[in-house]
Amino acid sequence: MSQTLTIALTKGRILEETLPLLAAAGIEPLEDMEKSRKLVFDTTQAHVRLLLLRGADVPTYVQFGAADMGISGKDTLMENGAEGLYEPLDLNIARCKLMTAGVKGESLPAGRIRVATKYVNIAKQYYASQGRQTDIIKLYGAMELAPIMNLADEIVDIVDTGNTLRANGLEPRDFIADISSRLIVNKASMKMKHVQIQTIIDHIAKAVAVN
Ligand code: PRP
Ligand code: MG
Repeated sequence: MSQTLTIALTKGRILEETLPLLAAAGIEPLEDMEKSRKLVFDTTQAHVRLLLLRGADVPTYVQFGAADMGISGKDTLMENGAEGLYEPLDLNIARCKLMTAGVKGESLPAGRIRVATKYVNIAKQYYASQGRQTDIIKLYGAMELAPIMNLADEIVDIVDTGNTLRANGLEPRDFIADISSRLIVNKASMKMKHVQIQTIIDHIAKAVAVN
């Protein structure tokens, strides 16, 4: 007998690339997740359901066991910490880089600098590792505006095409980390529902390999 298995997914762009991977494991939502306002979805497997969360909340649901598995960006995992989680698979989707950036052609002032970011913990750690003193300013989006408006000397953010930096007169500076989406699993679930979860991981791993 299969136990109910809950998988936490992210709203928005990444969902499109995630659903084919789940389909490869025989898991397909019974209705269009993009169009519905629902947050819990039944699937073609009677004992598997999908949750639709904000990206930053996926590790929280999986850490507390409110979801057994989830798909989360490495940036979110680095920022929140990964206690109580396994990270068995790099899905190789939503690939981008975590970088520092600042106004093009401007150099950093000596001494303490101001850094605007939603990645407060990553930024603290990174600048400390460089021996730089910082005041970190927490933002929730549109970080590229901060250096232009003199709110900050630098930002820490995701860079994909670099279009947003260019369009706002900024330049990428230091590389911090390669980012992509990861499959995460609650540690207790991995023990209690091992066969069920391992089967899904194996199917998804195969689909990732041919992508
Ligand atoms: C993300 C990220 C960068 C941009 C990177 O922002 O924060 O701003 O995309 O992509 P690019 O290098 O291809 O331009 P998003 O559009 O998600 O908005 P937000 O930061 O305001 O949440
Ligand atoms: Mg942005």
